[in-house]
Amino acid sequence: MQNLLVTGGAGFIGSNFVRYMLEKYPDYRVVVFDKLTYAGRRENLQDVAAAFGDRYAFVQGDICDQAAVRAALIAHDVDTIVNFAAETHVDRSIMDPDAFIQTDVYGTYVLLEAARDLGNLRYHQISTDEVYGHIHGDHRSLETDNLAPRSPYAASKAAGDHLVNAYHITYDLPATISRGANNIGPFQYPEKVVPLFVTNALNDMPLPVYGDGRQMRDYQYVLDHCEGVDLVLHAGALGEAYNIGTGREMTNLRMVEILLDELGKPRSLIQHVEDRQGHDRRYCMNVDKLMALGWEPDYTHEEAIRKTVRWYVNNPWWWEPIRSGEFKEYYQRLYGDRQIISEAAE
Ligand code: NAD
Ligand code: DAU
Repeated sequence: MQNLLVTGGAGFIGSNFVRYMLEKYPDYRVVVFDKLTYAGRRENLQDVAAAFGDRYAFVQGDICDQAAVRAALIAHDVDTIVNFAAETHVDRSIMDPDAFIQTDVYGTYVLLEAARDLGNLRYHQISTDEVYGHIHGDHRSLETDNLAPRSPYAASKAAGDHLVNAYHITYDLPATISRGANNIGPFQYPEKVVPLFVTNALNDMPLPVYGDGRQMRDYQYVLDHCEGVDLVLHAGALGEAYNIGTGREMTNLRMVEILLDELGKPRSLIQHVEDRQGHDRRYCMNVDKLMALGWEPDYTHEEAIRKTVRWYVNNPWWWEPIRSGEFKEYYQRLYGDRQIISEAAE
């Protein structure tokens, strides 16, 4: 493994992963292949381009475009594909599922076909805990659990996982899958809850908490996820999936409290609004399988949230232009007419 194609490498996790890999492996080359949707941004990689010279290349392209994918793989002599490219936001998938089916399902198929056609390249699929659906009682999702996705986003990602398994079983494609939890950290588009709430709070705008805010999520620092993906790439068993999370969960309300405390902003900014349709109540994964390979998370939820908040406080150059563009229209569409259930007491 030496020449990696990282699809979706201009997005949030992909850009953190590219930086992490280039720093860790001085003999690796990384080609980012990215369509640059609203979520993909060249500025996420501007320091990478400056720091790593010809060990790094960028190709603008769509993973649904067979010819473009094949051309990039051949031109850069790629031996390993890591597929981060996806439509990723659950609320957008509820409003407009089409792009999710295109990219997350058909795009995954195109990459798998190209990998097979070029002599069974090593393939790694970045997946999500959402494929397990919402988790009851004290259970923590195991890699062997049935997939039970409940949103168009989660269903499109589950379809991707099934395709990867099928290519491994049918064509012996050397493939692995990792399923990450709710990542937070630098360069996350401010539609996702933590950057949305930090940037709202910095503007003294209300924080729209869906429903009662007692949904459970595993807020994981993005570098812990990158380390887990790296380990699965190098030491994971082919044909296997690996969960990557802290193995713990916290309520959204607790996350909001930590976030507001770190900012020194009042709890009165919390505004409970109409819930997300089909909102999954709880995600939590068992991560023993990855830990058996020698991985453990470096950050607790609280450390991850506080560190992420500080990044947004220190980097308005990154998020202020985003919030003044396409984002405004999106925000109005999702939140403009949303019913307010209650305001938080101070
Ligand atoms: P993101 O939305 O920040 O970035 C997605 C990237 O994919 C963007 O750069 C975008 O331009 C690119 N892209 C989208 N469609 C494309 C296409 N057709 N062709 C080429 N590029 C395309 O996403 P993220 O949060 O960084 O998530 C990355 C991956 O990790 C996704 O597969 C997602 O399902 C998975 N994941 C995310 C989380 C999370 O909490 N964010 C958790 C677990 C798994
Ligand atoms: O669990 C992994 C998944 O995490 C990834 O696969 C997805 O790509 C990523 O978007 C994320 O999905 P979520 O739906 O969990 O993330 P989001 O940040 O949208 O929401 C996190 C929680 O916060 C969820 O319970 C919904 C709630 N929320 C979200 C928004 C945007 C609110 O209460 N208010 C909001 O305005």
